[in-house]
Amino acid sequence: MANLRSLIRDIPDYPKPGILYRDITPLLADADALHEAVDQMAAPFLDAGVDVVAAAEARGFIFGTPLAMRLGAGFVPIRKPGKLPFDLHSFAYQLEYGTDELQIHVDGIQPGQRVLVVDDLLATGGTVEACLRLLEKCDADVVGCSFLLHLEAFGGEARLEPYHVHSVLKYS
Ligand code: PRP
Repeated sequence: MANLRSLIRDIPDYPKPGILYRDITPLLADADALHEAVDQMAAPFLDAGVDVVAAAEARGFIFGTPLAMRLGAGFVPIRKPGKLPFDLHSFAYQLEYGTDELQIHVDGIQPGQRVLVVDDLLATGGTVEACLRLLEKCDADVVGCSFLLHLEAFGGEARLEPYHVHSVLKYS
């Protein structure tokens, strides 16, 4: 089995001094590791009856689509403003400096569909919390959230309560 943690590269002081960036690109480039990562992200949800995987650009897309295929589900993109062409639900959220916004097509998910939210990384939880608010506007039945990495020091898991949160690699 691939050693996933050994394929996460630590980059000190990126993108700014004091930040330790966890670079997943060595893992993505390794065929066995990529397969193993998708399997482990999907494992708790294999029998959850997932209809749709939803994920936010850009890195969420990397894992969202293979997870959808692994779970026999469809894929719905959540995107930044100006990228989706049809009628939209929008949710704006606070960043450290300023705000950001994510959008989903109003007909992307039908009411009651069972949805798994996927992203590469859980840090503050702001991105996936915004995804959850959009899915609530769609009246989705969210079965949980699956991440490759969880940076626990940022406290993001509390923002995603009461949803089921699964992560493959935890960093304290
Ligand atoms: C990164 C990552 C997650 C988010 C996690 O995305 O891919 O989506 O940050 O952080 P959070 O839990 O504090 O929200 P980023 O905003 O860098 O955009 P990208 O996916 O387009 O690189």
